[in-house]
Amino acid sequence: MKIAVVGTGYVGLVTGTCLAETGNDVTCVDCDQEKVDLLRQGEIPIYEPGLAELVGRNAAAGRLRFTTDLAAAAKAARLLFLAVGTPSADDGSVDLSALWAVIDQVAPLLAEDAIVVLKSTVPVGTNAAVAERLSELTGRRCDVASNPEFLKEGAAIDDFMKPDRVVVGARRAAVAEVLADLYRPYLRTDKPLLAMSPESAEMTKYVANALLSTKISFINEMANLCERTGADVDEVRRGIGHDRRIGFSFLFPGVGYGGSCFPKDVCGLAAVARAHGLQPRILDAVHEVNLQQKTVLVEKIEHHFGIRHSAFSIQHSPLTIAVWGLAFKPGTDDIREAPALVLIDRLLEQGVTLRVHDPVAMPNVRREYGERLVYCRRCEDALQDADALAIMTEWKHFVHPDFEQMYRLMRRPVIFDGRNLYDPKRMKQAGFTYYSIGRPPVQAELSETTLPAMEVVGG
Ligand SMILES: NC(=O)c1ccc[n+]([C@@H]2O[C@H](COP(=O)([O-])OP(=O)(O)OC[C@H]3O[C@@H](n4cnc5c(N)ncnc54)[C@H](O)[C@@H]3O)[C@@H](O)[C@H]2O)c1
Repeated sequence: MKIAVVGTGYVGLVTGTCLAETGNDVTCVDCDQEKVDLLRQGEIPIYEPGLAELVGRNAAAGRLRFTTDLAAAAKAARLLFLAVGTPSADDGSVDLSALWAVIDQVAPLLAEDAIVVLKSTVPVGTNAAVAERLSELTGRRCDVASNPEFLKEGAAIDDFMKPDRVVVGARRAAVAEVLADLYRPYLRTDKPLLAMSPESAEMTKYVANALLSTKISFINEMANLCERTGADVDEVRRGIGHDRRIGFSFLFPGVGYGGSCFPKDVCGLAAVARAHGLQPRILDAVHEVNLQQKTVLVEKIEHHFGIRHSAFSIQHSPLTIAVWGLAFKPGTDDIREAPALVLIDRLLEQGVTLRVHDPVAMPNVRREYGERLVYCRRCEDALQDADALAIMTEWKHFVHPDFEQMYRLMRRPVIFDGRNLYDPKRMKQAGFTYYSIGRPPVQAELSETTLPAMEVVGG
């Protein structure tokens, strides 16, 4: 099958590469010349485990190429996948300008039997609007299908190659059949291809992300309540998770969800609800709780050190904080809406020195923050003379650190764990003052408050 994928970001690059892997002839298009040049040189602009090898293999076999020439790719394609970004507009609605720009450009070029496949996450009704626009521009009926993507960054190849399900929204059975044929190699373990209306397919993607976000905000709210009442959310989580009606997934408390999908999709769905005259009370609450949750850890830090967030920054604060984990989750270099950035911004405002570490996201962070942060290649380096450590992403190598070495390196043995990686009792024994999410804090047996008090100016 001759395929063009327009938009070669996290989704487009993975989609194009995985489709080439099963023998399709794929052209990935992007308007970003630098990105296309990198890919042509065999370099991968994003971190995604296993992707570099797969891109290399398929490019070498001549099944996968990269270009900025949308017109040529569109003319030749039987299937034209659209995977451009659909970010939040200022009012929380979905900005479809990239999608419309592509549609307007490709309309006159599409082959008679071409199918436009919307892989970007788009609000319900977009498929119908795209079909209408294409027929206006071409003077004939054009087939448009919805094929939302459910991959997770960090496990994207596996998710694409072995999906739980594939959702296809199509008006005509023949169109669904073409996509069913394309996806057959990925569904060999009897996972379903669910053919439905384009409207249902569009809603399915948003409802999935909204429900996952809801679970996260729900457990975060419960965690905060546990903490106030002396309960331990980890015990509560286990107490509920064994109930088969509830389960364990997406019920880990933390510092709030980030990334390019959950925040914008919750707001995007809320905007759709409002446009249809419905008050999206749950979605609004999910978003609101998440915004607050992103500040929970930094507030613990401020409280512990006696600094308050205020318009007046603390001049030349002597505080140094190590930050482990900058991406919005492990396994990716994606820092879009990452909770770590909220913490970093607030501590920088207060003049705190930040020694940061992330195994793959530091180049992206450096692009935004320049030399305002101290970048540390190894997580231990970040701890040097730190007054505290804040853990923002649960990379695997943070799970079993050398606590004795950490204790020696840090100026004060204080840990603010936004991912509940450690056992509080063990931390106390190891000499740390330890704060986590939804669990009672523990004070070091040898209290760090015996260290000299810090001078806090202003605030
Ligand atoms: N990232 C995820 O985990 C994920 C998962 C499922 C669905 N989605 C959805 O997939 C879509 C893409 O997400 P992403 O994370 O891959 O975005 P991204 O920002 O990583 O990639 C989008 C790409 O589109 C390119 N682009 C923009 N306008 C273009 C144009 N006119 N012509 C050609 N290229 C153009 C950009 O240069 C960029 O490379 C979004 O709708 C998103 O909601 C993302």
